[in-house]
Amino acid sequence: MNLTAANHRIPLSDGNSIPIIGLGTYSEPKLTPKGMCLTSVKIAIDVGYRHIDGAYIYKSEHEVGQAIREKIAEGKVKREDIFYCGKLWATNHEPERVRPCLEKTLEVLQLDYVDLYIIEIPMAFKPGDEFYPRDENGKWLYHKTNLCATWEVECHPYFIQTKLLKFCQKHDIVIVAYSPLGTSRNPAWVNVSLPPLLKDELLNSLGKKYKKTAAQVALRFNIQRGLVVIPKSFNPERIKENFQIFDFSLTEEEMKSIEALDKNARLVELLMWRDHPEYPFNEEY
Ligand code: A2P
Repeated sequence: MNLTAANHRIPLSDGNSIPIIGLGTYSEPKLTPKGMCLTSVKIAIDVGYRHIDGAYIYKSEHEVGQAIREKIAEGKVKREDIFYCGKLWATNHEPERVRPCLEKTLEVLQLDYVDLYIIEIPMAFKPGDEFYPRDENGKWLYHKTNLCATWEVECHPYFIQTKLLKFCQKHDIVIVAYSPLGTSRNPAWVNVSLPPLLKDELLNSLGKKYKKTAAQVALRFNIQRGLVVIPKSFNPERIKENFQIFDFSLTEEEMKSIEALDKNARLVELLMWRDHPEYPFNEEY
C-alpha cells in the first residue's frame, strides 16, 4: 500500500477506512493551559492529520470539537474527511449508560457523529459521576462488567505485540497503537523503570541515516507494519515532525533490527488497578 501525506487511509473490514496516523490529545488536565488542545488540533489539521483521538475524560474534548468545526467552517476540510475517535470511561460500562455518554460526547464536540467509540479501559469502576471512585479509606470502587468489545493496544519498538498483530491480521482487525512514542512518562501511570524509547541508540542512528528523528522512525516502524498510530503532541514543531513519516521507508532488515529491540515491556501498566478482577495485562495477548 502506498501511503502518502495526502492519502493514508487504510481499509477496515466493514468497508470503512481509518487514517493511519492520528493526533493523540491526552494531556494531564491540571498541567495543560486552556486552548492548547484547540490550537494543536487546528495545527494538526493544517499539517495534514485527518484522525484525532480524544475522550470526554481528557477534559479537552470541547476544544477538539471546536477545532474540527472551525476547520470545516474555514473550508479546510469536510466533516467526512476527519476521523474522530471518542471513548467510554470505566464508570459507564453498564449498557444503559453507554448511549447517554456518547450523546454527551457529541454535545461537547458539537458534532453529529463520531467515527469510532471505544471502551477506554476494560475494567469497570462503580457507575456514577465520580470518574475515579474510591471509598472513605481510599480503596478503589470496582464494578463487575460483562466485556465483549474491542480494546486498543499499546505498541512501540519496546513492546511490539507480534502475537496480537498476527491474530488481528488473520481476522482483518486493524490495531490502533497508543503510546507509540513511549508516553509522556508520568510515573503515576507509567512504568518509568524502562529506558526512554526516544533515546534508543538504534532508533536514533536509523534516524540519522534518513535525516529523521527517533520519533519518526518509531512511528514509521508501526505504520509499515500496518498499525495505526496516535502520537500525542501539543507542540507545533513535533506535531509536524510526527506527520512527516510518509517520505521515507525502512528496509526489511531495519524493520527486523527494530523488532529485535522488543523487551516485551509494557509502559502503561496501570498497576494501581492490578487487583481489579478484570485487570487485563496478565493475559497473554
Ligand atoms: P509534547 O506534547 O510536548 O510534544 P505518546 O504519543 O507515546 O503518548 O507520547 C507523547 C509524549 O511524547 C508527550 O510527552 C509529547 O510531548 C512527546 N512527543 C511527541 N512527539 C514527540 C517528538 N517528535 N519527539 C519527542 N517527544 C515527542
